[in-house]
Amino acid sequence: MSSLVQAQQITKEYQTGPVKALALQGVNLTVSKGEFLSIIGPSGSGKSTLLSVIGGLCTPTRGSLKVDGFNVYDLPQEKLADYRREYIGFVFQQFQLIPYLTALENVMLPLVAAGLKNNQQVAAAKEVLEKVGLGQKTQRLPSQLSGGEQERVAISRAIVNKPPLILADEPTGALDSRTTEEILELLAQLHSEGQTIIMITHNPKVAARAQRIVEIVDGKIAS
Ligand SMILES: Nc1ncnc2c1ncn2[C@@H]1O[C@H](COP(=O)(O)OP(=O)(O)O)[C@@H](O)[C@H]1O
Ligand SMILES: [Mg+2]
Repeated sequence: MSSLVQAQQITKEYQTGPVKALALQGVNLTVSKGEFLSIIGPSGSGKSTLLSVIGGLCTPTRGSLKVDGFNVYDLPQEKLADYRREYIGFVFQQFQLIPYLTALENVMLPLVAAGLKNNQQVAAAKEVLEKVGLGQKTQRLPSQLSGGEQERVAISRAIVNKPPLILADEPTGALDSRTTEEILELLAQLHSEGQTIIMITHNPKVAARAQRIVEIVDGKIAS
């Protein structure tokens, strides 16, 4: 399979005043199109930083990131924003839904940014919410949904634009074991449909649901 992501010798040093934190130290990672990869490692090992680098949110101190053959951090600012919008669907542990927008409106957000007509936005958002089993709850606010349902809305928002790459940072970290199972099944279903997914977790059982596991320790790939 051809590679979608090629991270080469990625180093990231955060500087907070006089204090430096070396979050990533020469990480090499290749992800194939259609792969479901999990990244595991202890807290503070650099997992979220690596995902932010891949997602175009965090410029590495050294190293290069190629996605679909182009160098992401060689792009000018506005093209970098296009990259994030067109290539990446982000899913976070804390869902990060807008509290005063309905499930439908939350899922429509990336389509607003993409400049689609309103009726097209509604149709596309409804279709995805139906796919994740929330067809009857499109008008609910996040506070009127369970944690698992909120995460399904967050996943819907991430996939509605059909981005080539889903980046999920501890997507089941805030969920109980039964709901975790539902979310993992949904991710597995997306993967079976050809979606490329990179999922961070510190839970080995969750990680085992991916095709491949990469372990990161102290900012380095350990295995
Ligand atoms: N914005 C930031 N500013 C300064 N240090 C940071 C920042 N984000 C992360 N770090 C530091 O970088 C290291 C890796 O953090 P992170 O990538 O969040 O790890 P993980 O997701 O594996 O818990 C930690 O030492 C953390 O304190
Ligand atoms: Mg993290």
